[in-house]
Amino acid sequence: MPEEARKPEERETLPTAKRVALLNRHDRIFHVILAQQFDRETIDTLCKLAEMLRNIAETRQGLQFLKTLLSHKRAMLYFIQPSTRTFLSFAAACQILGIAYDEVRNPSVSSEVKGETEDDTVRVLSQYFNLIVMRHPKEGFAEEMAHALDALNMSIPIINGGSGQDQHPTQALLDIYTLHRAFGRVAIERGNLDFSTNRFAGKTIAFVGDLKRGRTVRSLAYLLCRYPGVRMIFIAPPELQISEDILEYLGRNEVEYAFADDVGAVIHECDAIYMTRLQDEYDVAGESKKIDFDRFHISADMTPRFKPDLAIMHPLPRRKEIDRRLDTDPRAQYFSQVHNGMWMRAAAIAYAFHMDGAIIDHYQTHFTY
Ligand code: NCD
Repeated sequence: MPEEARKPEERETLPTAKRVALLNRHDRIFHVILAQQFDRETIDTLCKLAEMLRNIAETRQGLQFLKTLLSHKRAMLYFIQPSTRTFLSFAAACQILGIAYDEVRNPSVSSEVKGETEDDTVRVLSQYFNLIVMRHPKEGFAEEMAHALDALNMSIPIINGGSGQDQHPTQALLDIYTLHRAFGRVAIERGNLDFSTNRFAGKTIAFVGDLKRGRTVRSLAYLLCRYPGVRMIFIAPPELQISEDILEYLGRNEVEYAFADDVGAVIHECDAIYMTRLQDEYDVAGESKKIDFDRFHISADMTPRFKPDLAIMHPLPRRKEIDRRLDTDPRAQYFSQVHNGMWMRAAAIAYAFHMDGAIIDHYQTHFTY
């Protein structure tokens, strides 16, 4: 075990490349914690696997095959922050792959009330399972636990299902997958599963809302850096604008970006617009009540200025960010994102257990002529 893996306080100051290396095994992702772990090849593979899984699952025989893939594994969904959609998305992904899962959602009924520390709880409960999916309000907790389990030599993969205000890597993967399906719809519908095409070159993606505290935005910005030629626009109140660390990362990766104050002023330039809600659960003293957030909204009245293939995205849940009249516009992608997420999470879990080869073989045998 490398010494760095044992010292959380030192780990925080490690360069990202080192943190990424510590989460991998033999150059392959083991714990899924940070979006920066994903290179282009891995993202392409996961999109392809997600697409294969949804096709295979269309028949009873296909679904039965998938259910045998990981029927020898058990997962713990450790969701200590409110969640229904992401929780059920992972639950459905486990069911598709035949994984039995159990949940921990309320620490007040666990031994933590007897004074057990939370990291001890995770170490103890992990003994029953082969995989942990974790949503936690504290940034870095999932990464810390990945190293804590590694140090016990009882390592099982941990997948980050949302870590405080920091990251939500599987949401970012499903967002990339959704964008591929939106930008490459015709090719993908015809059965072209080559996700190595850079469909993002020359595209402008706007992020709107609480960009400072929205973990989905942060993780997606990291992943988009893998696509040369993408451009980003950040539209937020000044207090909630995207953080400096992300801008530095974009700069290092030579990604072009701009800021805007008003959705209406830039909507005509956008190929995708990623709306987000106010993350006021992270307020310390109700400070976001003073912000005029209603302006960060997309209205059906802007439709004449939309590009014909604009992708309207939202990680959900939404409040008033998207005019409900847009729900039936074919450019609205937010319900597809939810559906795509289930396949992407199944792909990520299958990949974590080295099942990608079996899925690709099955697909090639049954779907290519
Ligand atoms: C997001 C999250 O939890 O970060 N939701 C999700 O996972 N679908 C976005 C949000 O809560 O605003």
